[in-house]
Amino acid sequence: APYSEPVRPQIHFSPTVNFMNDPNGLVYSNGTWHLFYQYNPTQNVAGNQHWGHAISTDLYHWENLPIAIAPEKEGEGIFSGNAVIDFENTSGFFNESTPKDQRIVAFYTLNTATSQTQHVAYSSDGVTFTKYAPAVVERNQTQFRDPKVFWDNKSSRWIMALALSQEFGIVFYASSNMKDWSEVSRFQSYGILGYQYECPDLFQVPVEGGPDDGKMMYVLAISINPGAPIGGSFVQYWVGDWDGTNFTPRDQAVRTMDFSKDFYAFSSWSNSPGNKAYAIAWANNWEYSQVVPTSPFRSIQSLPRELTLKYYRTTPQFGDLILNNRPVNLSAISSKTLYSKKSAQGSKNNQTVALNGKGAFDIQATFKLPANTNITYNTIGSFEIFAGDGKQSVKTGIQMGEPTFAFIDRRKAGSSFADSNPFFTDKTSGIIRYQANYTDDQYVLGPLPTSAYLDQSKQDRYISLQAVVDRSVIEVFVNDGELAGTSVFYFDNDQIPAKAQVSVGDNKLELVDLEVKALQSIWK
Ligand code: FRU
Repeated sequence: APYSEPVRPQIHFSPTVNFMNDPNGLVYSNGTWHLFYQYNPTQNVAGNQHWGHAISTDLYHWENLPIAIAPEKEGEGIFSGNAVIDFENTSGFFNESTPKDQRIVAFYTLNTATSQTQHVAYSSDGVTFTKYAPAVVERNQTQFRDPKVFWDNKSSRWIMALALSQEFGIVFYASSNMKDWSEVSRFQSYGILGYQYECPDLFQVPVEGGPDDGKMMYVLAISINPGAPIGGSFVQYWVGDWDGTNFTPRDQAVRTMDFSKDFYAFSSWSNSPGNKAYAIAWANNWEYSQVVPTSPFRSIQSLPRELTLKYYRTTPQFGDLILNNRPVNLSAISSKTLYSKKSAQGSKNNQTVALNGKGAFDIQATFKLPANTNITYNTIGSFEIFAGDGKQSVKTGIQMGEPTFAFIDRRKAGSSFADSNPFFTDKTSGIIRYQANYTDDQYVLGPLPTSAYLDQSKQDRYISLQAVVDRSVIEVFVNDGELAGTSVFYFDNDQIPAKAQVSVGDNKLELVDLEVKALQSIWK
């Protein structure tokens, strides 16, 4: 049966066969979430790009649809892009009888041997697309791609963001009819210098906390490949203001969206209901995505994420906004509760939970660090998820301190692929910059301990760790999404996750809450 291979994630979207990369054309239309994606229908490696297509009503259960957009000529590719709803028929592509929220217009890059140009296709039924023949944006540029379009209320026109990939910048165009576009501004000389800037996304996100609580603010995300500090592909973002013509970031600091290696080509849904921001990313890395040991398919999309901008004070004088990333309502797919203990008084600090199910689980714990604790390098709260053979495992955890770190360790998760690939970094870590329950007078910034040091918090500190494990991927969320990490891993010998061990290292931390749930397969 399709979707039954041991490495095949059960709650993440993947194509039945062959190679997938970026999510494309994310748009909500008439109660349906559309997911298009870069797809090679003929081989299990990149090339021959088409737009594959799937739809969902809850962002988890996907129905595969026929290929939506295909190239006309051999050797050409339909590269990444996005879609919008043309409610007022500004393009003139639609009959007045087509319901307003079903007027989907897709923008993509046509890649040929000699050019990258931007094109449009439209659909009234959400399944079949008609191409509008001429290119709508051209530039004498072969590294110019990945259109993201939105309707701008400030200037009452359409805005398109495009990557000038090897000029390390984003260029914005404007149009009133989706066909005639002119350049209005640039965002250039920001970010970590990589080889190529790709997949820009400018979108609005609700703020949680601080002076701008409740407002919508702009986030500009840019995927950069290769060039990530830990190798390969990664996503950077800036929080800022869009004035109708220019994007102005609050500061020039570079923020990354995910601390691990498998989160790229991030894209948000357009026309999401209710002032919310939803997004997804390709959960792999160009350093090794074309050789990972999965067959007959390669690559998955990440969990759908709900985004907010969370306000955190880092000093009494300075507040920062960071993109908080939490999985969209997992209760849509949860099944049996395998373990649950809330505020466990006197219960064991270490727990082993049998993971009975199809290999997809949600593990959530809250750890407590009592006030005035001597922290060591082993003041760690962790989950180790073992394969059925009891030997292979993938591990995640948090190491308390100032700062606190989160890590993912896939070093014991299958060696036949990992040992053969120079890029498949086995351990990754990120900083928890902003601690829950932090108050100004407690803030003690210092180096990590060489032996042990006293955490000078005058109050107990709590930290939460969530891991969603799905056969060959782990997604980790600390403090309800203030830090996220996404890692693929590949157990050898057809093994799937079968047991979780939750531990507290040197016993300085206490395991307060623990809940482990099996997740239902989204595939029939
Ligand atoms: C990003 C990317 C895009 C391009 C697409 C081609 O992963 O390189 O820039 O449009 O993939 O498949």
